[in-house]
Amino acid sequence: MTAKPRILVARAIFDDVIGKLAAHFEVDANQADDALAGPALAARLAGKWGAFTTGGERIDAALLAQCPTLKIVANMAVGYNNFDVAAMTAAGVLGANAPGVLTETTADFGFALLMATARRITESEHFLRAGQWQKWRYDLFAGQEVHGSTLGIIGMGRIGQGVARRGALGFGMRVIYHNRTRLDAATEAACQARYVSKQELLQTADHVVLVLPYTPEAHHTIGAAELALMKPSATLVNLARGGIVDDAALAQALQAGRIAAAGLDVFEGEPQVHPALLACRNVVLTPHIASATEPTRRAMAHLAADNLIAFHTQGRALTPVNPEALAPGR
Ligand code: DGY
Repeated sequence: MTAKPRILVARAIFDDVIGKLAAHFEVDANQADDALAGPALAARLAGKWGAFTTGGERIDAALLAQCPTLKIVANMAVGYNNFDVAAMTAAGVLGANAPGVLTETTADFGFALLMATARRITESEHFLRAGQWQKWRYDLFAGQEVHGSTLGIIGMGRIGQGVARRGALGFGMRVIYHNRTRLDAATEAACQARYVSKQELLQTADHVVLVLPYTPEAHHTIGAAELALMKPSATLVNLARGGIVDDAALAQALQAGRIAAAGLDVFEGEPQVHPALLACRNVVLTPHIASATEPTRRAMAHLAADNLIAFHTQGRALTPVNPEALAPGR
């Protein structure tokens, strides 16, 4: 009997997913959820054929040079900015992500964050819990209108389209979007979304939602200059990745009342959060949980596992990000 390939599951994950993987692989499961990065990750990957990662483990040239047996890394995340894709391709290592299965759940959360931000839900709850609610007032926590307002989405992939549909069909919002490439007419019609420049979007949207993937070009897509273009009554939601917003510039804009409020699920350098953001009253902060429902996290984990299994049994991953890594003679 040939030995099973060895894999590392780099973070704690559902027991049944470990069981499914164990039918095909010799699994080194980090169910203790030890922090694995850099040298510790490289050491744990020694002799491994594959890795199951969750989006936080950096896979770059330095790590790959120490892991010559590695053939595939499967992320339990749609985002894969933890992969240096060029380095992986050069090393002949296939990367896979987990698209599709989290689209609607993440779009739901985007809308929840937009609503909480615009209607000052967490800020008012803190006020109430602190025993500060003495009487009704006409302007107590008066927020921004959501229904009938203009929703601007930057990054119009699957999740962006989900947010657009919720805004247009559920809340009667005018939807405008900006994206690297314009959508086809049928998709625009389904989302009731109109393509505009980034500048027009920032100047006219009442609520700006960021859902674009992180790339070096997307770094600080929203900084001081962009915040200065937004309406003072506007809100900003970052559902995408830390680093897409300049968090220090955002904190300054929030403190100065340059924009009304922000809702953030992702942060530069997370799980650290810029201290100036923590001091802002007009920001809703959540710990990267947009896809966090039990069924969705389970579906993401199974897709990552299925990518490893399909590559082992059929020589191809279901959702590869760099199929060129397998090109003959590469
Ligand atoms: C993703 O899938 O990219 C989400 O951010 C969850 O990590």
